[in-house]
Amino acid sequence: MKLIVVKDYEEMSCRAARIIAAQVLKKSDSVLGLATGSTPIGTYRCLIEFYRKKLLDFRTIKTVNLDEYHGLSQTHPQSFRFFMEENFFQHVNLRTSNIHMPEGKAVDPEQETVRYGKLIDSLGGIDLQMLGIGLNGHIGFNEPDDTFSRTVTCVELTQSTIEAYSRFFENTDDVPRRAYTMGIATIMQAKELLLLASGAEKREIIQQAVYGPITTRVPASVLQLHPNVTVITDESAGALL
Ligand code: GLP
Repeated sequence: MKLIVVKDYEEMSCRAARIIAAQVLKKSDSVLGLATGSTPIGTYRCLIEFYRKKLLDFRTIKTVNLDEYHGLSQTHPQSFRFFMEENFFQHVNLRTSNIHMPEGKAVDPEQETVRYGKLIDSLGGIDLQMLGIGLNGHIGFNEPDDTFSRTVTCVELTQSTIEAYSRFFENTDDVPRRAYTMGIATIMQAKELLLLASGAEKREIIQQAVYGPITTRVPASVLQLHPNVTVITDESAGALL
C-alpha cells in the first residue's frame, strides 16, 4: 500500500484527481471505477477543472460505478446516478453510452447483478477504482459480515446505514432497504485502487483498514492484499497512520 497523508480535503482531492488524470492520459479508453459520497466530490471538482482547461478528454473513457440504491430511478434526487450527473457526468464530455451503473429500477435484482457483473467483465475489467470508506469499514455497500462478498450483489442495508442515510430523505421509511454493490472480488480485480478518507471521524477506521488484521469485519482491510493500492488521507484522517 502506498500511503499519502496531505494537509486537507482540497489537497487530498487534487492528489486523487491527478492520479485519475494520469490514467486518462495514459489510456484514452480506460475504465474508471467511480464512487459516490461526500469524499469524492472534491476529486470530481478537480477533474472538471482539468477538463475545462482542456488537459483531459473523456470522450472515449468508460465509467462504472461502485453502487446504487435498489428501487430508485436514475432521476430520483437521492439516486447515485443523479449524484454522479450533478457532480461529474454533466460537466465533462463523457458519452452517455460509456457511463455504466447498476440500474436501480431493474425489475429482477438477481438478473441485474448478473448483468452488471458481466458488463464490467466485457469492458475488460476496471483500470482504476476510486473508493471511499464507511465508518464501519465498508467499501461500496459491502458491510461487515462473516464472509467477503464476491461479485456484484444486491445487499440488505444494515439499520445503521439506513439511519445514516435517512438525513437525505424525508423520513426513514423512504430510505431504500437494499442496494446494488460491486462485491469484494469485483473491487479486488481492479488493476489499481485509490482509497480516500478525510476528517477525524475516519481516523480509527482508516488505521484499522491499513494496519489492522485482514478481516471480513472491516471490509476495507482486504485492500492490504491488493498489489496496487494508494491511500490518500488528509491530516485528520491520517493522524494514526
Ligand atoms: C456509502 C457508500 C460508499 C461510501 C461511503 C462513505 O455507504 N456506499 O461507497 O464510500 O458511504 O461515504 P462518505 O464519503 O460520504 O463518507
